[in-house]
Amino acid sequence: MSTVHRTWNINGKPVRVRAPAGRRLLDVLREDLGLIGSKESCGEGECGACTVIVDGEPVVSCILPVGQLADGADVLTIEGIEKKRIGRLIQQAFIEVGAVQCGFCIPGMVVSSYALLVRNPKPTARTIREALAGNLCRCTGYAKIIAAVKLAASRIPAAKRK
Ligand code: FES
Ligand code: FES
Repeated sequence: MSTVHRTWNINGKPVRVRAPAGRRLLDVLREDLGLIGSKESCGEGECGACTVIVDGEPVVSCILPVGQLADGADVLTIEGIEKKRIGRLIQQAFIEVGAVQCGFCIPGMVVSSYALLVRNPKPTARTIREALAGNLCRCTGYAKIIAAVKLAASRIPAAKRK
């Protein structure tokens, strides 16, 4: 199998990556780079626990071979999102609303919520549901998660967009 040598912009910093082209992005992030905030649950692209943002779009990293990521790709993980203002608003809202139970789905939920709110800071409940449709939660029943994203969105005008 061929090996890729690429430089990606991970959470705002250039990172040189060398890995077999078929290695999963999730494994490179967690095992090679120590970014363990992205979780693995299904490992089949079905649950969203491993969601990261690549070039502005949420993707499931457990089924993405690194050979498909171009040199210079922008990769944003939960570790980068929690340093951003909107990311902090989302995390705070999840805590305040009580939208976290076991927590395993939450990094992926926050990543997908961030991707939505950066594009659309005033989403309807339906838009939020659609944006989080690929993120499964076994604990919460989703209502509090939707409420948390709405609460975070309501606070964005008071914060500087970033
Ligand atoms: S672990 Fe990647 S989608 Fe479930
Ligand atoms: S809080 Fe447990 S899976 Fe979502």
